[in-house]
Amino acid sequence: MIENDNHGDSCQGEEAIVPDVCRLAVTEWNGPFAQPEPDYAVRVLERGGVVLLPQLEFPLRDVERALMVKGSSPGSRKNVSFDPAKGHLRGSTADDADQAVLAAMTRRYAAASKALLGRLLPHYAGALVPGRTSYRPFEVAGRSSSWRKDDTRLHVDSFPSSPTGGRRIMRVFSNLNPEGRSRRWRLGEPFEAIAAHFVGSIHGPVWGSATALRLLGVTKRRRSAYDHYMLALHDSMKADSKYQRYSKQDVFEFPAGATWIVYTDQVSHAAIAGQFVLEQTFYLPVQAMLEVERSPLRVLERRIGRKLASV
Ligand code: SIN
Ligand code: FE
Repeated sequence: MIENDNHGDSCQGEEAIVPDVCRLAVTEWNGPFAQPEPDYAVRVLERGGVVLLPQLEFPLRDVERALMVKGSSPGSRKNVSFDPAKGHLRGSTADDADQAVLAAMTRRYAAASKALLGRLLPHYAGALVPGRTSYRPFEVAGRSSSWRKDDTRLHVDSFPSSPTGGRRIMRVFSNLNPEGRSRRWRLGEPFEAIAAHFVGSIHGPVWGSATALRLLGVTKRRRSAYDHYMLALHDSMKADSKYQRYSKQDVFEFPAGATWIVYTDQVSHAAIAGQFVLEQTFYLPVQAMLEVERSPLRVLERRIGRKLASV
């Protein structure tokens, strides 16, 4: 087992090749939190680092723990997601009673992560918009899927049917593993390096395609040029086996009982082992950032030389 823990204590490294993983000694979901400096966590995240809260465990109820044992059975290998806007669960094949347990757990996680970010990232007050909550009960290692859906390959997040229009994607993860097993990730090179590597070989959007995708119902809203490039980056990274193998990367283990926060649209990541995490997605308008110039939108706009979204 490889564990590279080197980034743990060095969170200043501007020149770091793989992202910094910066720890904070947080034990309560509701704070208040002491940070080494104001907006410390915001800066770490915007610079493409990971904020790790090794002692912030998400408390489970007995019925939820019991469901985890059931959830690991081979028949149920799907993510369960909860859509706060629609108020229902997706992907669950569980019976009604179990669905109610899952819905309550994901709802509680949504509330807990909202409270956490509200206190830990005060600069974003009121600007973070909660998206889906997901529960991932399957073992990541050895799962087969198409290359595009294969999250064991390094990638940045971009959702084909849900264009962000330039908004950031931030995710909170908690490792619930009852046997104390880590969630093992690969972490790759900075977004600027990814853009430098791939953008030259990506074609711009075909004229009229955004309208066609919207009319055909492929996308929920118009796919901006930004979303086009982000999706192409996601696909190009995953499809390139040489890049997967030889690009700069490191393995990091997120321990059971830990919570971590990351801009997954910016940080190259891949989940390679582990079972049972909860994840909450948030969207943030780029204007709410402390350092907008670090956003994937601005990085891509600088490289491509034109505006890619109307923000
Ligand atoms: C991903 O976001 O690509 C997977 C992360 C995980 O499930 O640990
Ligand atoms: Fe991802």
